[in-house]
Amino acid sequence: MTDFALWSENLRKVYMSKGAPPTEALAGVSIEVRRGERVALLGRNGAGKTTFLKIASTLLRPTSGRIQVFGFDVDQTPEKARPYIAVVPQEGKPFFHLTPREQVYTYLRARGLGRETAKTRTEEALQKMGLTEFANRLSITLSGGQRQRAMVATVIATEAPLLFLDEPTIGMDPFARRSVWESMRALTRKGSTILLTTHYLDEAEALSDRLYIIERGQVLVSGTADDLKRSVGGTVKVLLPEGAARVESFRTFGSCVTDGEALTIIVEPERLGELMDLAVRSKLMATVGPVTLEEAFLRVVGRSIDVD
Ligand SMILES: Nc1ncnc2c1ncn2[C@@H]1O[C@H](COP(=O)(O)OP(=O)(O)OP(=O)(O)O)[C@@H](O)[C@H]1O
Ligand SMILES: [Mg+2]
Repeated sequence: MTDFALWSENLRKVYMSKGAPPTEALAGVSIEVRRGERVALLGRNGAGKTTFLKIASTLLRPTSGRIQVFGFDVDQTPEKARPYIAVVPQEGKPFFHLTPREQVYTYLRARGLGRETAKTRTEEALQKMGLTEFANRLSITLSGGQRQRAMVATVIATEAPLLFLDEPTIGMDPFARRSVWESMRALTRKGSTILLTTHYLDEAEALSDRLYIIERGQVLVSGTADDLKRSVGGTVKVLLPEGAARVESFRTFGSCVTDGEALTIIVEPERLGELMDLAVRSKLMATVGPVTLEEAFLRVVGRSIDVD
């Protein structure tokens, strides 16, 4: 048996639409996700994340390249891959004529689970997603965030070996988001594998063991959140609110960005002491904090856009 829950090699997708030029949404994506991993796909709007997830979950056929789920070729034998996967699609909606309780239970039964297991899992998932209060209301009457919670509840209840979640926490409040994170961690502890997309980079950081940044249909970088931060020159950020005028004397410490009178420097922790000495001698105030994944993302993707 393969070690990979998901594996793709040089995956391409070109959308052909009448009267418009073809769109190359994926231009050769190779990805490996080991069993039990939580991996995030990040990237700007239109980068190709949803296209990748749709192909991986057998909803769309690739133009070329290979992709496997637990060793099964997704394109050639989708019926073999399907039982292993469950999907929260981007902008998915619950059935408006069903209650969340009916939807979760019915979906589990359709996937072949027995009555008792389906019942227990349904109650667990509704509770985890904070839906017990609304569980018997038609989904049409739910708020946007509650509907999204019903979608996530339906899919986490499957405990499928491989879960695809396309922006699962969109529209959710900070408490609900954390419930989703906790459920995902619990699922991978039980052995599931998770591939998710998100534009919330705090979420990607809290949740993923590894991440891929997709840019214009290609993998721009992959690694851990810390790898990505190191690739921009360090994991510590120093803000000198009045440092812009002195930018030249700080350049040796790392990547410098000025914004009005302010200067931010991304630096390795080992050089922080030296930098702070210079700031003190220059009579500059300084605040020190960690580099966030969002800052690293902006620099890495921004750099690649600048190159073109
Ligand atoms: N059915 C389609 N027909 C033609 N072009 C499409 C189709 N679906 C997506 N595209 C194009 O393919 C590219 C990738 O789209 P995709 O939905 O995969 O991006 P994404 O990374 O998920 O973006 P977002 O963050 O906005 O969800 C975009 O340029 C998009 O316009
Ligand atoms: Mg998308």
